[in-house]
Amino acid sequence: MKLIETLSFMLLAMAVAVTAQNPVLDTSGEPLRRGAEYYIKPAITDNGGRFTLIDRNGSCPFYVGQENSSAAKGLPVTFEPFFKEENIVRERRDFKVSFAAVTVCVQSTTWQLDGELISTGDDGAGFNNYFHISHGQVESTYFMGWCPQDPCLPADCSWFRCGQVGAIVENGKRLLVWDGNPAIPVVFERA
Ligand SMILES: *[C@@H]1O[C@H](CO)[C@@H](O)[C@H](O)[C@H]1NC(C)=O
Ligand SMILES: *[C@@H]1O[C@H](CO)[C@@H](O)[C@H](O)[C@H]1NC(C)=O
Repeated sequence: MKLIETLSFMLLAMAVAVTAQNPVLDTSGEPLRRGAEYYIKPAITDNGGRFTLIDRNGSCPFYVGQENSSAAKGLPVTFEPFFKEENIVRERRDFKVSFAAVTVCVQSTTWQLDGELISTGDDGAGFNNYFHISHGQVESTYFMGWCPQDPCLPADCSWFRCGQVGAIVENGKRLLVWDGNPAIPVVFERA
């Protein structure tokens, strides 16, 4: 193949790769949309309640965790796909996710890696705020995870230790971790 043909084929392949992934669907079967509000719920019971902000120890920032009971409402989140022209959330594509809530903390409510935990804040420095959703083992359930790819070029992200979102209990509070614990299968319910 001539160089030009090879290059245009590569560009086409990249464009297809970006849009080929399936949309992530909410509990009504609709794609998750940029900026719309969703509750994140465990797909099975006995796995803690809906996702919410947790005051870990009386100081900022708030952490990302779960309600103690499945009766509690939780807080909705919004998704912001990495690619500006992308208006729906697709499987294994990176996005920022933020609680649609105000807190007493100065930090934003955007999820951010904080050691093994997930706290809130957006330092604008790149990878730590980018999460993704992948398909679960059971139809219409999903796992959330951290394994940045879309924001990487030209950086090399291949050395990142990737992980899926699970939970630990600390002083009776359920806090999300992004690695090391069994992943929590979740569903997304339009708020
Ligand atoms: C709360 O946790 C943060 C982060 O681990 C720590 O820096 C801070 O000292 C803790 N504050 C209290 C009151 O325990
Ligand atoms: C869950 O229970 C613990 C212990 O009573 C409490 O500290 C924590 O704030 C509760 N979590 C939520 C989200 O209300």
